[in-house]
Amino acid sequence: MMKKVVVLMAVVLAALGHDVQLHKEFQSFKAKYQKKYISHDEEMHALRAFGRNRELINEMRMSNPEAKFGQTRFSDMTQNEFMSKMLRSHAKPAAPVSPGQTTAVTSEGQALPKEINWVTRGAVSPVRDQGDCASDWAFAAVDNIEGVNFVKNGQLTLLSTEELLSCTNNGDACNGGITAAAFEWLLNKEGGNIMTAASWPGETGTSNCTFVGKTVGATISGYQSLGQSEALLQVATVNYGPIAVGVDALSWQFYESGVLTNCSASSIDHMVTVVGYNEEGSTPYWIVKNSWGTDFGLDGYIWIQKGVNACGIKEMAITAFAAKY
Ligand SMILES: *[C@@H]1O[C@H](CO)[C@@H](O)[C@H](O)[C@H]1NC(C)=O
Ligand SMILES: *[C@@H]1O[C@H](CO)[C@@H](O)[C@H](O)[C@H]1NC(C)=O
Repeated sequence: MMKKVVVLMAVVLAALGHDVQLHKEFQSFKAKYQKKYISHDEEMHALRAFGRNRELINEMRMSNPEAKFGQTRFSDMTQNEFMSKMLRSHAKPAAPVSPGQTTAVTSEGQALPKEINWVTRGAVSPVRDQGDCASDWAFAAVDNIEGVNFVKNGQLTLLSTEELLSCTNNGDACNGGITAAAFEWLLNKEGGNIMTAASWPGETGTSNCTFVGKTVGATISGYQSLGQSEALLQVATVNYGPIAVGVDALSWQFYESGVLTNCSASSIDHMVTVVGYNEEGSTPYWIVKNSWGTDFGLDGYIWIQKGVNACGIKEMAITAFAAKY
């Protein structure tokens, strides 16, 4: 009898200790990310998700030995909530090659470097933060044009995401969109011109679509979809600069650093930008710029294993071409 009670006590204490630890971690998570919950129910829901996510984080660690995972600002969301808030399904780009552009990017006989990083070469603007707005498609378009324009014209000019958010996608800036459609709109409606971020600031898609008083920052001459090939993506990255890619970002919820080697690739739900790659170590990887602020991953970036279509990275790669000025 006595023995049973002692065992029971131990179990209760262990459960309690576990609970206390969980509450402690949750409190420091709340403080770190300045989380506020509107009701007790909502807070309890967040706490349950947080507890379950500790197990998910451990599973991610087991299946991705070359990456680190931990608490992030998404730690109080269930996987479903993360999906519906941060990710959207993206239709395939409509036209693979725009008029006047035939097979500009080909993978024929070029010796490629083992490493390239457009960030250190000055071709990449600071990491942006889409917040709760699924405006990733516009950030990827702008990051790509800024990069190819830098490579073509030797100057990094920050371009207007707000223009694309306010003028295209039927005014539905925050509900996902198609990067190719943004390129189409620039080519068909604006002669390929995109305005500077300085003359058209903002990242919410709430401004009027008017060009009065705005300054042209870059001009595109066409775009090309890279045909589901990581080889072509590599050639395009070397020759043209940062490239917009679609990914499945479901495995990114708790990413901190290192190379993601086991990444879900079941559906493309997020647009980002490949800004380089590295093949010097035993696991080659893409260097990818995200738009979830600088506290995501590696100062806003994520490394994804190259050559195995991790996160579906080859599925929807696309680049605009910069005109020479
Ligand atoms: C990759 O991750 C999935 C989902 O977590 C898991 O089922 C699978 O076993 C992992 N594969 C490897 C090789 O670790
Ligand atoms: C948009 O234009 C309308 C009509 O000219 C004006 O009233 C409104 O303030 C403008 N909105 C913004 C956000 O500039």
